[in-house]
Amino acid sequence: MATSEHVTPVLGMFPWASIKEQVEADTSRAFVVDIGGGRGQFLKAIQKEAPNGFGAKMILQDRPDVLASLTAEDIPGIEKMSYDFFTPQPVKNAHLYVMRRILHDFYIPVCKEMVKNIASAMGPTSRFIIADMIMPDKVEIGTEVTPYWMDFNLMMLNGTEKSKKQFEEILDAAGLEIVKIYPFAFGCHANIECRLKTGGASS
Ligand SMILES: C[S@@+](CC[C@H](N)C(=O)[O-])C[C@H]1O[C@@H](n2cnc3c(N)ncnc32)[C@H](O)[C@@H]1O
Repeated sequence: MATSEHVTPVLGMFPWASIKEQVEADTSRAFVVDIGGGRGQFLKAIQKEAPNGFGAKMILQDRPDVLASLTAEDIPGIEKMSYDFFTPQPVKNAHLYVMRRILHDFYIPVCKEMVKNIASAMGPTSRFIIADMIMPDKVEIGTEVTPYWMDFNLMMLNGTEKSKKQFEEILDAAGLEIVKIYPFAFGCHANIECRLKTGGASS
């Protein structure tokens, strides 16, 4: 995981500072909840664009054994919370929920249940950011091979890289919709911004 971390982009997709005003207007809501966030690497990167979490909580959720290995000095400004992502999300109405490199570890029916757990906690202005690769619809000779070999690796774990259409299927089952996709400058990595379905047009 540590090697993979070095070659996987973290920032340069969703503009974390764009939500500053919304967070500062209501710091009683958590700024961001990182679900299955490991050692806090994503949250620590986000802090570079969102110093002090804009005054609201930054919460790292993972298994208790993973969190127990982290001291307060390892993750300054970040609160640890033991949580099993197969259960309903306990932090309600956060500004942002993020999941990085988690959904690709599971097949679609399992992802639907996990995302339903997040949707159950979201309010009208909450956003769910998926940080994963988006599998191209069609194989183009000469383009990046990473999603394909990663897909084979994930098959060993009962996981799979997903296309935009597959993400839409998962989100739809959970009552969510895509607001915008923020692709990395090259390759297939992206941040997918999602919200509760509004029934209206995407902005
Ligand atoms: C592939 S790592 C991704 C870590 C981090 N999101 C990142 O991008 O670096 C998967 C993480 O999910 C956590 N995890 C596995 N099963 C979990 C569960 N049932 N509930 C919460 N976290 C879990 C693991 O402990 C691990 O930290």
